[in-house]
Amino acid sequence: MQSLFDLTSEDPNLDGFFALAKSGALSETHSTVCAALLEEKQHHLFANWDPVGTRDADKFTFLDSLLQAHQSYPGGLPGYIRNARKLLAEASAGSNPFDGCTPAQPDIIDLSDFGPGYDKAEATGLKCLSETAIVLVAGGLGERLGYNGIKLDIPVETTESTTYLAHYALFIRAASERIGRKIPLIIMTSRDTNPGTIATLKAHANFGLAKDQITILRQELVPALSDLAAHLALEEKYRLILKPHGHGDIHMLLHTSGTAAKLTQEGFRYLMFIQDTNGQVFNAALAAIGVSEERGYDFNSIAVNRVPGEAVGGIARLVKAGHPDLTLNVEYNQLDPLLRATVSPEGDVPDARGYSLFPGNINLLVIRLAPYLKVLEASGGVVAEFVNPKFADASRTTFKKPARLETLMQDFPKSFTSGEKTGVTIFDRVWCFSACKNNLSDAAAKAAANSPAESASSAENDFYLAGRQKLRMAGMTVTDGPVQTIRGIPFTTGPRVILRPSFALTLQDVRDRISGGSISGDATLILDGDIHLKNVVIEPGATFIAKSSLGTSATHTDTTIPAGKTYTLHELTDAEMSSPDTPEFLKIRGYRIDPPAG
Ligand code: UTP
Repeated sequence: MQSLFDLTSEDPNLDGFFALAKSGALSETHSTVCAALLEEKQHHLFANWDPVGTRDADKFTFLDSLLQAHQSYPGGLPGYIRNARKLLAEASAGSNPFDGCTPAQPDIIDLSDFGPGYDKAEATGLKCLSETAIVLVAGGLGERLGYNGIKLDIPVETTESTTYLAHYALFIRAASERIGRKIPLIIMTSRDTNPGTIATLKAHANFGLAKDQITILRQELVPALSDLAAHLALEEKYRLILKPHGHGDIHMLLHTSGTAAKLTQEGFRYLMFIQDTNGQVFNAALAAIGVSEERGYDFNSIAVNRVPGEAVGGIARLVKAGHPDLTLNVEYNQLDPLLRATVSPEGDVPDARGYSLFPGNINLLVIRLAPYLKVLEASGGVVAEFVNPKFADASRTTFKKPARLETLMQDFPKSFTSGEKTGVTIFDRVWCFSACKNNLSDAAAKAAANSPAESASSAENDFYLAGRQKLRMAGMTVTDGPVQTIRGIPFTTGPRVILRPSFALTLQDVRDRISGGSISGDATLILDGDIHLKNVVIEPGATFIAKSSLGTSATHTDTTIPAGKTYTLHELTDAEMSSPDTPEFLKIRGYRIDPPAG
């Protein structure tokens, strides 16, 4: 690469910049990045700079932002710009990534009805747990939810108010104790979520996880692009427009930080990728890892039966003459046109079962580390980028607003070239996935359209529902309370069942610890630790909380818990909804659950 001074331009617009450079004020790293950008024809970034001594602080903040973007992207800004030019040219030419592809069913293991395959997979997964690390992507802004704070701080349930991060940590702690090895937790944060995540971990002493068990990887924003030549967009002189690059950054960061390589050296074989607000994930995680092990999947997507039209992608095996088949997520806006052009002239319509033709992607992934590392090393960590410019003209040359490169974590198989084995494991939806993504009014509109609401309230509802499902599968008689519609979203009033990971990591654990008995109506049951219930009857309006500390156990036999002091659900009034005294985590639900009085 040429030095900055070899690039001195005849262009008088750059005089101000070069005057600063010649004054010796630029560091070597600043000079290097500026030279690289001038070589990439980004002269506009340095045009019409004020004379030395005017707005110098702004200039250096700008240079720092260029340096930050340069250092956080493999290949630096020149790499980013070249990748962008290629992808923008393809977008301008209108090339369709699915051209010539026919979607076919991927390799699917369907555990949505549980059954013996489920138990076997879960037992296998439990054996592999000591070789699995958990990767939590938590850099998202949560714009649809509109919560003022990090989503990991939102309670998944409001009976005991366990936050998502606390809930995940409880599983990791209980599982680590069970297998005798600390399960690593890697959290991807962003500029928006990093301070909050660190503060929460500090305030709760890492939720009992060891310091060396947690790795934080912070994703950076990328520069926006103003045209097909990939000129970096300026908000104003000395200020770049920066935008999120997407959750696919996790692959890059696991590579560039050396974390994927380190985990491999330490004997880990799987990574389990989870989202920030899915309280159900650990119900299905072990069985999914087990399926990866049993089927030899290098990349296993946990999926659900998809409701046609819902805003999740469909996972299909894309068949194209002369190309190896590729199992990929087809985003929901691309799925309907692809289906119409190929296997389903009516588009994304229900099949005989009432579901979409292809399983729905929920971004829970089990990836085998060895092939993952190979792909990361070959690609330098930048995988499966795309660009989605909104063109302002018919010739597709100018943009309505600046675009940027993006990457999605589920697109990783686009980088597979060596016959890596991809598969899909379908679980019952409530069992494996119920995210908190939407504000109440959007969620109510979705519920009205028979789509999953994905609000804080539906997530809490499903959390208890999965608890009830476990009790039923252990042979307890469970009678649901009435369904109440709260601000347009259905909520089953009870029983509220919370089975902590210290009580049961697997479905088999639940069966081993509970037999007979019943629970019904507006009752509450919380089990934490080595507790056994034999023929315990929990009546409507009753509360039964059994907790035992590590190393102790308790058995409750032939007992009836009568109605008494109990948790009660109250819908929030309009005044409470708008009151500044009502905590935001309640406002995003529309109700509160009061603890037993006294
Ligand atoms: P979502 O699309 O559900 O979350 O991302 P979001 O981006 O926070 O929400 P909206 O679209 O703004 O409403 C799925 C997962 O990916 C993470 C999120 O934190 C969530 O766990 N994510 C998303 C990242 O880690 N980084 C990103 O750049 C985007």
